[in-house]
Amino acid sequence: MDTLVIEGGIPLEGKIRVHGSKNAALPILAATILAEGEHEIEDVPQLLDIQVMLQILASLGAPSKHEGNKVTINTGQLTTARVPESLMGQMRSSIFLIGPLLARCGEAIVFRPGGCAIGSRRIDLHIDGLRRLGVEIEESEGVIFCKANQLVGAKVVLDYPSVGATENIMMAATRAKGTTRIVNAAREPEIIDLQNYLNKMGARVSGAGSNEISIEGVERLYASQHHVIPDRIVAGTLLTAAAITGGDVALCGVIPSHLEAITEVFSRSGTQINYANDMMRVIGTKRPKAIDKITTSPHPGFPTDMQPQLMSYLSLANGTSILSETVFDGRFRHVDELHRMGAQIYVDYHTAIIRGVPKLTGARVEATDLRAGAALILAGIAAEGRTIIEKVSHIDRGYEKIEQMFVKLGANIQRNKIA
Ligand code: EPZ
Repeated sequence: MDTLVIEGGIPLEGKIRVHGSKNAALPILAATILAEGEHEIEDVPQLLDIQVMLQILASLGAPSKHEGNKVTINTGQLTTARVPESLMGQMRSSIFLIGPLLARCGEAIVFRPGGCAIGSRRIDLHIDGLRRLGVEIEESEGVIFCKANQLVGAKVVLDYPSVGATENIMMAATRAKGTTRIVNAAREPEIIDLQNYLNKMGARVSGAGSNEISIEGVERLYASQHHVIPDRIVAGTLLTAAAITGGDVALCGVIPSHLEAITEVFSRSGTQINYANDMMRVIGTKRPKAIDKITTSPHPGFPTDMQPQLMSYLSLANGTSILSETVFDGRFRHVDELHRMGAQIYVDYHTAIIRGVPKLTGARVEATDLRAGAALILAGIAAEGRTIIEKVSHIDRGYEKIEQMFVKLGANIQRNKIA
């Protein structure tokens, strides 16, 4: 696995465009199964997770091309409804292929996604919701067999606003008999983007972005085109890079309403953020102020996918911050790595107490998962001296050419390719 070598201490400056959203593109690519024909999806970033999804779709009989950031995929002839275990193991969120496969083929055979570096990846809400739509689901030795001769619309109340479960049920319901209502649905912007694509294909979905989504089943859907929304977590990560180095960076192509919870927190700590059209200018201060208490929660709350990045930033704040992680039960593995750089963080169960220090120092650290890795890059560009980050492939799952993004803004960072 490649490593990144960073010489820290340089304030970032310049302008950069934010690439398309991984977490919008993945369900939309899965949704292409719902309709026979050739789909065109624009602004799909070149990421490992996207590659895995395209490999899974190809293994189901849907070949694709990913040129630049445009994906064309032909879903005319599916050959199987069984997702390969080896590929499923590489990307747990491929569980939301069940819905489209059931709607198209009447069956789906997938593998239980194991836990990962950020905690357990339970799927009970997916299973219970699909059963409400008339799906028969059996599990044996980690293999999940799903069958539905006829999907039927139903009211599904989610115990927790799970993003993946909301997406799975939405996609399955598009071709069910009757209407489905999802109550306590996830409200993330990526859900709205999925709704927009489903409706372009001829579905009748409404309410995405609120906590109640209605899907009126239709007989057939048609291949279509779409331009994926920008990645709000990549935008938040680049915002943090400008803020943590005391720099001055303009992010292009962002959607302000997707970033409100993030910009509110950074503004509260002293970072200057202002907008002109679809461009967001971020000007960091000499030293941020600590944040008394911040808790991650489902959208529109502060996103869990920005928790590690915020922790790096608050590690250098003036004062003590308290950061609670309520979405995943194992998303503090970056703390030990930040300790190696001089951060003073004490973890008590789901809460991190971060006593800001005047400086971090470079060290050899390891990326344990996608966003933890991004947090280490942020700490490295702000630290004094050299930081070496190992297992960079975790970061490549969610950031396109990440070191080139930061070099473009003046950072001293290079990738050592390891065969
Ligand atoms: C999506 O994951 C995102 N991934 C995650 O982004 C993101 O962190 C997460 O939503 C929350 O916003 C994609 O969109 C591909 P959940 P998902 O179902 O759908 C529990 C990143 O870094 N839960 O909302 O898997 C679950 O254990 C990734 O880009 C159940 O209990 O998230 C977790 O604690 C990481 N039962 C919480 O809900 C279920 O059936 C949130 O999970 C499903 C989930």
